Amino acid sequence: METPTALVTGAAQGLGQEFAAALARRGFRVAGLDIVPQTETAERVLDYVELVGDVTDEHQVRAALERTVDRFGTLHVVVNNAGVYPAGPFEETSLDDWRRVLRVNLEGPFVVTRLALPYLKAAGWGRVVNVASAAVFTAPPDMVPYVASKTGLIGFTRALASALGPYGITVNAIAPSMVRTATAERTVGADGGFERVRDQQAVPRVQEPSDLISTLLYVVDEDSGFLTGQTLNVSGGSTYA
Ligand SMILES: NC(=O)c1ccc[n+]([C@@H]2O[C@H](COP(=O)([O-])OP(=O)(O)OC[C@H]3O[C@@H](n4cnc5c(N)ncnc54)[C@H](O)[C@@H]3O)[C@@H](O)[C@H]2O)c1
Repeated sequence: METPTALVTGAAQGLGQEFAAALARRGFRVAGLDIVPQTETAERVLDYVELVGDVTDEHQVRAALERTVDRFGTLHVVVNNAGVYPAGPFEETSLDDWRRVLRVNLEGPFVVTRLALPYLKAAGWGRVVNVASAAVFTAPPDMVPYVASKTGLIGFTRALASALGPYGITVNAIAPSMVRTATAERTVGADGGFERVRDQQAVPRVQEPSDLISTLLYVVDEDSGFLTGQTLNVSGGSTYA
């Protein structure tokens, strides 16, 4: 069987780095696209294709995909993980703030998936995984653009699943709770944020990136071809969902 290949966006750190490393351990050849270099990820992933570019820039994404397929020959899996999650009062949210969040979190997955589609079709089967958030259920008051972007991503997931089903390409979303990454620790998890979310979960501990890996590997498996259009809520049995 042909070695499957994957592109992970936002792979420099946090969840994206864990996803890239986990896919490599599972036998995938992995490329990562991020706006910053991915030295640490490259150290963890054998034969890693490190692509520096912005997921919202068509030219950069096109070039990144071309490099990936030049190197690996195929592309089976796209993990749309790159995202931003600023928090702040709605009344202080500018149109520029709103556009930036929508652009990275929603337009980015569109650009990457749309440009990857010919390669996924050519590969014969494909998996698109969108990293959403359980915040779509909690709807925190200080994350209005973020919740809008991730809810949009779930709509994108569902409709795109319908569009791509005939090609053997599934499209699913994974919705984590608050996960202990460096960015979350510095921002939403600071000042008791992690503890507040933990206390809403059935599993009374803070979610780690490793808690998402089994779901990712399940969704991208070639044998998971009948699972599509779904949002897998991997959030410790949050009482709100
Ligand atoms: N950490 C959490 O608590 C949590 C919870 C639910 C969902 N999520 C989602 O998981 C994903 C990863 O979160 P994280 O905590 O690992 O974040 P992170 O900040 O650690 O990593 C995000 C990566 O995306 C990259 N990135 C940002 N904008 C980009 C762009 N325009 N083009 C290319 N790369 C870009 C960054 O450089 C960074 O390396 C995000 O989509 C986030 O919304 C995170």
